[in-house]
Amino acid sequence: MKAVLLVGGEGTRLRPLTLNTPKSMVPIANRPFLEHMIEYLKGHGIDDIILTLCYLPDRTRLHFGDGSNFGVKLTYALEDTPLGTAGAVKNVAECLDETFFVFNGDTYTDIDLTAMMEFHHNSGAKVTIALTPVEDPTIYGVVETSAEGRVQRFIEKPHRDAVTTNMINAGAYIIAPEVLSHIPNGLNFSFEHGLFPLLLKRGDPVYGFQSDAYWIDIGTPEKYLMLHHDLLEGRIARVFPGKPAGEGIWLEEDCNIHTQAQLEGTVIIGRNCVIGSMAHIKGPSIIGHNCIIDADSLVDGSVIWQNAQLGQKVSIRNCVIGENVVIGERTQCMEGCVLGSNVVVGSDQILEQGIKVWPDENP
Ligand code: GTP
Repeated sequence: MKAVLLVGGEGTRLRPLTLNTPKSMVPIANRPFLEHMIEYLKGHGIDDIILTLCYLPDRTRLHFGDGSNFGVKLTYALEDTPLGTAGAVKNVAECLDETFFVFNGDTYTDIDLTAMMEFHHNSGAKVTIALTPVEDPTIYGVVETSAEGRVQRFIEKPHRDAVTTNMINAGAYIIAPEVLSHIPNGLNFSFEHGLFPLLLKRGDPVYGFQSDAYWIDIGTPEKYLMLHHDLLEGRIARVFPGKPAGEGIWLEEDCNIHTQAQLEGTVIIGRNCVIGSMAHIKGPSIIGHNCIIDADSLVDGSVIWQNAQLGQKVSIRNCVIGENVVIGERTQCMEGCVLGSNVVVGSDQILEQGIKVWPDENP
């Protein structure tokens, strides 16, 4: 079965992490997000995947090649200028001659795609939109359906008194190829504001497939961190890389963990890391490949990308640290700091809660 993955966006909300790394390549438990996505799609028989790229395309192409190392066939479509979600699919229309899936390339989910395809065929829909419930529908665009699941209305940020549903578009669609004729060629056009409302106006059958499976949009640093906490705390089932090395500890090869280092909670440590004496790694935390965490440091609830170095007595809490970051001795990164790639922070600094540091800044 075929799928189109929308991975061309700039990921502005996830900056500074996406200034050097496209959103589809940000590491989730030390593997690029797209590797997880491909694994998930394969599990539902989807093995012919078109990646629509625009922003920072080379890293993705270099990593995945033709897909054979990952058990799928990958085709790349490069946009010179962003075509929007529907425009990007129209751009590859000649490859799409049977009913296909489309996915936003930034949602992590366990939605049952096999059941969704069955629902699509049974309902006679031209388009089926996966729907997921949210706690506060007033900050989203919600999708109102009939009892049979036929979409009645799209409502942008409904007022609290006017809320009739808490179901939002989950960014996964099944589309019949004939629908593509309604998308203009070569223009920026979206599914949410362009194609779907147009199909409703025409009276074409658009259905919503409701699912309460795990779903998260990793589009902001807070959600990115939350996904890691959810994974490590078992709210979504996944196999972690590395070998178990004690209760909740997963170690990849060639690590040097000091006998007096303290690892606690669920912690994943990538290849070739050094963890010093009395360093305290408190889960849920992930340390990327080739990291050095010096003596007496504290890493609590955080995600650290590869090649980072934390000096002695550094402390970080619920932070995301980009690749190649160096943090000097005794520096404290308070709750929710996000450091972009290659940032160098001196010794004895205090980075206030929620600070975001861009790649070329030295705070
Ligand atoms: P923000 O800038 O933070 O809003 O992120 P984004 O634009 O990367 O993502 P958004 O949530 O707006 O888009 C949903 C998905 O569609 C993401 O996976 C994007 O990569 C993808 N996407 C958005 N616009 C385009 C586009 O013009 N072309 C392609 N190929 N993909 C796109």
